Amino acid sequence: MQAQEQCYRLGFSVRAACVQVHPASRALLTNPKQGKLKMLSRIDQATPSERQFFYEKIGGANVTPLWEVLHGIITAQPNTPCVPHLWKWQQLWPWLLEAGNLITAQEAERRVLVLENPGLRGRTRITHSLYAGLQLIMPGEIAPMHRHSQSALRFILQGQGAYTAVNGEKVTMNVGDFVITPSWTFHDHGNPSSEPMVWLDGLDLPIVEVLDAQFMEKGTSQSQQTTQGANTNLARFGNTMKPVEYKPSSNTSPLFWYPYERTREALETLRVHDELHACWGHKLQYTNPVTGSWAIPTMGTFMQLLPAGFLGASYRSTDSTIYTVVEGQGRCLIADQILEFGPKDVFVCPSWMPYRLEADSDTVMFSYSDRPVQQALDLWREAME
Ligand SMILES: [Fe+2]
Repeated sequence: MQAQEQCYRLGFSVRAACVQVHPASRALLTNPKQGKLKMLSRIDQATPSERQFFYEKIGGANVTPLWEVLHGIITAQPNTPCVPHLWKWQQLWPWLLEAGNLITAQEAERRVLVLENPGLRGRTRITHSLYAGLQLIMPGEIAPMHRHSQSALRFILQGQGAYTAVNGEKVTMNVGDFVITPSWTFHDHGNPSSEPMVWLDGLDLPIVEVLDAQFMEKGTSQSQQTTQGANTNLARFGNTMKPVEYKPSSNTSPLFWYPYERTREALETLRVHDELHACWGHKLQYTNPVTGSWAIPTMGTFMQLLPAGFLGASYRSTDSTIYTVVEGQGRCLIADQILEFGPKDVFVCPSWMPYRLEADSDTVMFSYSDRPVQQALDLWREAME
């Protein structure tokens, strides 16, 4: 009570902050005038125990001193726990098949092995902001219909003939195809083919989580009625044209199937006519054909060709990037690591870490990152050396 009265005399009005006073500070409060002068002169004399006592006192009221954490949160450059890493298909494929014998796609809802960054274990993500997993769907299986606010991309690694249905439209997927499941659209997957099918799932899960904007809803049936197929979607939006009366209902591309055949052909034409970029060879960005912007508003998606013998210059950017290889082999030199990659391998290059790409044979790689988000927020940077 005495301390509280003294606080009022000093002009403080927060009762909670006055309840406890360190014995060494108590003397300063006996005479406000004298105490103020003394306080200025004894800052350098504060002992660690006095500071700790203060931190604990304000901590009880959910208040914390910024100076204790400032240097860890506002850093001179990106300071990510995400580390470079490569997952070999050779190792993952038997585990996917093993998972196929352990649980059905229906029971699991999605039978996926999550690729967790070694620096982010237990956090269900491959980078700080993005998720990656390998989804297996066995012959005859259906992954039931649902929808969620997270946007998803599928990049097909193995098999052919399985389908994804999105809002009443169905696309059959083949290796190298890029398929979009836009935010809050009902989707289900099925595999009527005779072979297991695997694709890379990329989601903006951590971004949606940090914004606390997660919603999810299960469908009323296993799979949806589909009235239109992939060719219709491609005819509408896949020819740098659009239906005359089309009005966008979201920022996601209305074209949701980008067949590998077309992408590969485009890269091959660029190889003949365009100069090779020193860092990334020939690289194309998937776009929303209606707006010319990103195909997915939260995830940038790319495909690039590195000709045989390519020795890339050093590059870095603030968007941690996830790569997977369609064709060819080579390596990524990053930090003190050499990530030797081949078809279907997945590797990750963290934010602002310089890396170089090399190709032993013609190599085609798909990649994705959070670049659209960073650019929208004026945060994105890149540097070439
Ligand atoms: Fe889903």
